[in-house]
Amino acid sequence: MLPGGCSLLCLIPLLLNASFGFKLCPTDCFCYESSSLVDCQARGLARVPPSIPHSTWMLDLVGNRLTEVRSRSFVGLWSLRILLMSNNSIQTLQPQAFSSLHFLERLDLSFNRLRWLPQDFSQTLSSLQQLRLDHNLLLHLDSASLADFESLRKLDLSSNRIRVIDVRAFSSLSLLSHLNLERNRLNVLRDGLLSRQQSLERLLLGHNNISVIETEALAPLRSLTLLGLQGNQLERVRFKTFLKLQTTTTHLLLSSNPWICDCELQRVFSKIQHVRRLRVYDYGDIVCHAPPLQAGSSLASLDSQLCVAETASVLVITITVLLAVIGALVKAEHNRKNNQASSDTESEKDEK
Ligand SMILES: *[C@@H]1O[C@H](CO)[C@@H](O)[C@H](O)[C@H]1NC(C)=O
Ligand SMILES: *[C@@H]1O[C@H](CO)[C@@H](O)[C@H](O)[C@H]1NC(C)=O
Repeated sequence: MLPGGCSLLCLIPLLLNASFGFKLCPTDCFCYESSSLVDCQARGLARVPPSIPHSTWMLDLVGNRLTEVRSRSFVGLWSLRILLMSNNSIQTLQPQAFSSLHFLERLDLSFNRLRWLPQDFSQTLSSLQQLRLDHNLLLHLDSASLADFESLRKLDLSSNRIRVIDVRAFSSLSLLSHLNLERNRLNVLRDGLLSRQQSLERLLLGHNNISVIETEALAPLRSLTLLGLQGNQLERVRFKTFLKLQTTTTHLLLSSNPWICDCELQRVFSKIQHVRRLRVYDYGDIVCHAPPLQAGSSLASLDSQLCVAETASVLVITITVLLAVIGALVKAEHNRKNNQASSDTESEKDEK
């Protein structure tokens, strides 16, 4: 028995190859022996072709008509490092679709029609470093399907329909450096979701529907250089949320959100600007959505105006209080004098 439960059936091509010096290559594909590259790009293939040479290092199936990847489609391809399947119509990955691919480093499934990932998706792919799943129809990420991607560095999930991510979904991805979740439907960035991502350098969350970033959500990130939050539904943020980023330098992208420009927001941004390691890269493009008086103005152009009204009202209150106190003092003094005057007249009367 070969590893992965390979039966006699998958030995036949090997035997043929060895005994007759017969070179395998799928019909319709082009095999570059010197580079161990099998090119099946845009051949109108409806399924993964059989007879792929076992020494294949890179298999290109881009732009075909695949609708599913069946179980054990790549069985025996122990040498495969790069598998490209973008721009097909793949809707289903059957269980064990990627069995045998223990050494695969790059998998491209972008531009397909995947709505969900099977529970065992990552199971045999423990060497995978780059995974593209962008431009699919994914709705959510559960805790299991990414669980064995222990070597993963780059994960592209952009342009899907992801609304919910289980808080443990990324908990095995401790080497992840690039995570792209742009153009999905996320509402909240939850505490704990990124708790294992100490190596994360680029976190792209632009063009979602995020209105809430929980206070501890960014706290575990130690290596972040870019945080993209542009094009979301942020109206306000807390300074504390960003202060928790213990990094050397992090660029923040925060434009195209419906910011409510009040004194509080101005203070938050001014405090962020004063933290050396944080840079709001697109500060000049941060435009107020509300209140009506400020709508359409850039936050930068309002300078410190937003807190002027607040300062003024503090002044008015202070002056009012002061005046009241002075008034009370004057009145007390007046009363004292009156009392003194009346007691004087009384004592004069007594003398008479
Ligand atoms: C997908 O493949 C088709 C046909 O092979 C091609 O016309 C189209 O440009 C490709 N699209 C992308 C996004 O690669
Ligand atoms: C976007 O978020 C808001 C709450 O901030 C919610 O009411 C709305 O339904 C969300 N839209 C989508 C498309 O998820």
